[in-house]
Order: sequence, then C-alpha cells, then structure tokens
Amino acid sequence: MSAVMEAERPAAAPAGEAFVRLKDVESYYGESYIVQGVTFDVKEGEIVALLGRNGAGKTSTLKTIARAHEPHLTAGEIWLGDQAVHKMRDWQAARAGIQLVPEDRRIIGGLTVEENLILAQTAEPVGWPVDRIYQLFPRLGERRRQEATTMSGGEQQMLAVGRALARDIKLLLLDEPYEGLAPTIVEEIEKAMFEIKGLGITTIIVEQNAVAALRIADSAVILDMGSVAYRGTAKEVLDNEELRNEYLAI
Ligand SMILES: Nc1ncnc2c1ncn2[C@@H]1O[C@H](COP(=O)(O)OP(=O)(O)O)[C@@H](O)[C@H]1O
Ligand SMILES: [Mg+2]
Repeated sequence: MSAVMEAERPAAAPAGEAFVRLKDVESYYGESYIVQGVTFDVKEGEIVALLGRNGAGKTSTLKTIARAHEPHLTAGEIWLGDQAVHKMRDWQAARAGIQLVPEDRRIIGGLTVEENLILAQTAEPVGWPVDRIYQLFPRLGERRRQEATTMSGGEQQMLAVGRALARDIKLLLLDEPYEGLAPTIVEEIEKAMFEIKGLGITTIIVEQNAVAALRIADSAVILDMGSVAYRGTAKEVLDNEELRNEYLAI
C-alpha cells in the first residue's frame, strides 16, 4: 500500500452503532495464510461493497464470516450484534442469520425453482414464504415449476438470493452477483436489494463491477493482499481517482 493510501485510511469505524464487526480476522486454506488481519464495522441495514483486485481475499473474507470449513479462522473476532460468530460452526452462523450466496450460486439440479426454495425452508429459522419471494422476484413465480438449472444466469441469481431469504437472515453475503448478467437484470437485482435493505437486512456485496456495487452501497471496504487498504463511503471511493486506479481499475 502506498503512503498516500495509508494516510487516507480512516482511523475509526464509521459513525453510528456497528452491527457486524470484524476485528483482526485471520484465516487459512491449509498452510496458506490468506485473510491477514481484516478489521471493519458495518451498521445495521447498511450495504457495504467489499472491493479489491482479483485475489485480494474478498471471497475468502465472505467465507470466513459465514464460518465455512475453508478457509478456517485462526484468529480475530466476528460479531453479529452481540453474537460471537467467531465461536460458531457454519450451521450455527446460518442459524444466527448469516447467509452466503456464493459465486457459483449452488442451485440444485433436478429440482424446480419452488423445490429449491422449499428445501431451503426446511432449516430453522424459516424466513420468507415462497409467495413473498415471488413478489420480490416475479420471474421466479412465473418459472416456479421450471427445472431451476435450465433458467438464465440472472434468474438463477435471483433464485440464489431468494433461497437466502427463505431463511430468516440478518446478514446477506453476495459474492459477484452480477457476473455475466445483462444490465437490465442487474437493475432488477439492485431493486430487490434496496427492498431487502428497507427491511433492515445488512448486506456485504463483493463485485468486480465496482461501479455497479458502489451505486447501491452506502460504504466500501477495499481489500489488498488479505487486509483492509481503505474504508470509506461509496462516494469517497468514486471521487478518489488514485484509489480507483490502484485497486479497482475503474
Ligand atoms: N481453496 C483455496 N486454497 C488455497 N488458496 C486459495 C483457495 N481459494 C483461494 N485461495 C487463494 O487465496 C487468495 C485470495 O483468494 P480469493 O479470496 O478468492 O480472492 P478474491 O475473491 O478477492 O478474488 C488468492 O491468492 C487465492 O489464490
Ligand atoms: Mg472472489
């Protein structure tokens, strides 16, 4: 990180009470040290864009928060309100309301759209009923009886988000939701994300399309080599050409 970037890094968390707190989080894939002391706070109901170059550690950070088996957390703290996520297993984090929508979406083949949603609702705590999910994404309602993996990429992304909402969630982690999607579909998903935000759900979105992510985000965290290079508002990132050139290529 350059000296300029170091100087611009805000010393403290953003104003307001933090809901999600990461403190010196470290995680490994086997012997590989990947998440190297990540610290940032997120307010309840906030949308945060987690950005950075390819390989910066964005996906690894999301997986660490969701307490995936890999990368495994070795140090630091993750808090969701007053709940110590760093002491949880993956299923406990899910039960506490953390849902990761991975880049590959993990739609279950051989099942219809509706079956995918109903399957998600078999685990406690149950979130939205399917009809509520169809209100958010009318395309899913129209395709409820279609085999889910035969849908377009955008529709499958909607299903992946809908499936997360079938659980009672507090924190939504989205990994590259817009990858390969047409701008009109991106807009539909953005609209849904505002609606989700309106309900007080907190979101961390990882995107290569930084401009699209910053359009809906309140704030941004930029990762570089497994740690936080910048924390600020979305506007600060968009206005800072040096930062954009160095970390985002926009
Ligand atoms: N399963 C894995 N095993 C070992 N190293 C991994 C694995 N997945 C990712 N990495 C490494 O971790 C680093 C961060 O990767 P990742 O979190 O996927 O970055 P980003 O999502 O920002 O592109 C990279 O150097 C990558 O090679
Ligand atoms: Mg990634």
